Amino acid sequence: FQNPFNQITGARLTVFEEVAFGLENLGVLRDEMVRRVQAVLERLKIGHLAERSPYALSGGQQQRVAIASILVLAPQVLVMDEPTAQLDPVGTGEVMDVLADLAEAGASVVLATHKLAQAAPFAQSALLLEEGRLVRHAAAAEVLADPLLDELGVERPAPARLAQHLGLPPLWPVTVEDGLPYFRAALRSLPAPESGGDRSSAPRWAPGGQAGGASDRTPHPTPQPLPSLLHPHPTPVALDEVHFTYPSGVEALRGVSLSLEPGAITTLIGENGAGKTTLSKLINGLLRPTAGRVRVGDWLAADHPVSDLAHRVGYVFQNPDEQLFKSTVWDEVAFGPRNLGLTGRRLQQAVTRALELTGLTAAAEVHPYDLQLAERRWVAIASVLAMEPPVIILDEPTTGQDRRGRERLARLLDRLRVAGHTLLAITHDMDFAAEQADLVAMMADGRVLTVGPPGQVFADATLLRQAGLESPPVARLAHALSLGSQIVTEAQFVAAWAGRWE
Ligand SMILES: Nc1ncnc2c1ncn2[C@@H]1O[C@H](COP(=O)(O)OP(=O)(O)OP(=O)(O)O)[C@@H](O)[C@H]1O
Ligand SMILES: [Mg+2]
Repeated sequence: FQNPFNQITGARLTVFEEVAFGLENLGVLRDEMVRRVQAVLERLKIGHLAERSPYALSGGQQQRVAIASILVLAPQVLVMDEPTAQLDPVGTGEVMDVLADLAEAGASVVLATHKLAQAAPFAQSALLLEEGRLVRHAAAAEVLADPLLDELGVERPAPARLAQHLGLPPLWPVTVEDGLPYFRAALRSLPAPESGGDRSSAPRWAPGGQAGGASDRTPHPTPQPLPSLLHPHPTPVALDEVHFTYPSGVEALRGVSLSLEPGAITTLIGENGAGKTTLSKLINGLLRPTAGRVRVGDWLAADHPVSDLAHRVGYVFQNPDEQLFKSTVWDEVAFGPRNLGLTGRRLQQAVTRALELTGLTAAAEVHPYDLQLAERRWVAIASVLAMEPPVIILDEPTTGQDRRGRERLARLLDRLRVAGHTLLAITHDMDFAAEQADLVAMMADGRVLTVGPPGQVFADATLLRQAGLESPPVARLAHALSLGSQIVTEAQFVAAWAGRWE
């Protein structure tokens, strides 16, 4: 299932029993069952969670349990709906490896995913769907080079996007490894610096040059007039040596210090289980520190109930279904501001603005559960915006979003930043973390390892390894091509490439 929560049966108490449930139903003998469950838990790196409750896990850990409960059955046909949406990049690669092994052994695997960069190298073929119709079915590389993708808002892997921006010919590379020889060859074919001069004959790889270049990625041509944003009272957040241990004894935060400033976007990255969600729940008071201090503006969070903190901190849950419970989008979005005491015109105004900001105006009377998961995420975002909190935390807002969704999100974050909000966005999407952030905070094992500008954080290979992360594909390519060690965004890459030519 797309939402791993829906996969957990709830009939069993531990992760081990949950994963064994299917085999039990098939009447598999005890010894074989134990062997198979252990093997699949180890393969998905959740052996250490075997005795935990399937509900007392991080989002990504829970998704691994959901995948394990299916893989353990060794099915001949496997259909998966965004199975890796909440997994960190390494975990996603591990699941792709398992699926490739299954396919190798004769199983048929069908995978619905937005993570083309990691799925395409394993795919025998790709199907492109548009509004319920199959519009293309071909080898993955061919589908990825199809101009239709631009129309349909499908995000290509970063190496392919760069090649497209630079006007290099298809077929485009999908992985960094494929990209290296491809871009090296293209660099070698650039005119020597002294032969330059006639800039009028634009080289075919000029930024935004041809073959559906940069212009394809510009947002919709008819910008809607957007509602004006409130300018919130500037509210910095500071965590000072914060510790947190769950009642079950899991030590999730081990001394975290972090400052978030108004008018800045901080992206928070880290492996599954690193403590990102726990950290955000401490800022909005859903959890209270075991030790250390959390300050929100001039308040010490510990001195205020969650209902007070809701005026200052908005938190969009990792799983939107944890926060949606009304029968129309309008009521859902009105719930928060109503609780804060807004009524009449003021309430109407707050809801209308939040719906406009998230593009949901037309969906006001729809039941939230009649919307797709990605749209429900927008409802969750709107319900937080409607409370107009100065501090906004978004827990994995990029999950399950296509290219347009990501662009919509980037525009919204930008506007909130300009208005002066304090913003924290948790993400496993390293491209997004690098493109959108003023600062990147990197967590591992309950600690913040470093905070700094994207170029700096993603240039530190040692710390990245320690955190079990990789820098964005753009950064890895730029580094390997000696274009620069602090290049992390597409725009920087394209500029550095042009610099090579000049
Ligand atoms: N309700 C809970 N009870 C007990 N332990 C929990 C609970 N929720 C999370 N944990 C544990 O706390 C640690 C941190 O979890 P957290 O959800 O903060 O991680 P995360 O960085 O958000 O991970 P992900 O990327 O998978 O969402 C993990 O070891 C996790 O198993
Ligand atoms: Mg989380």
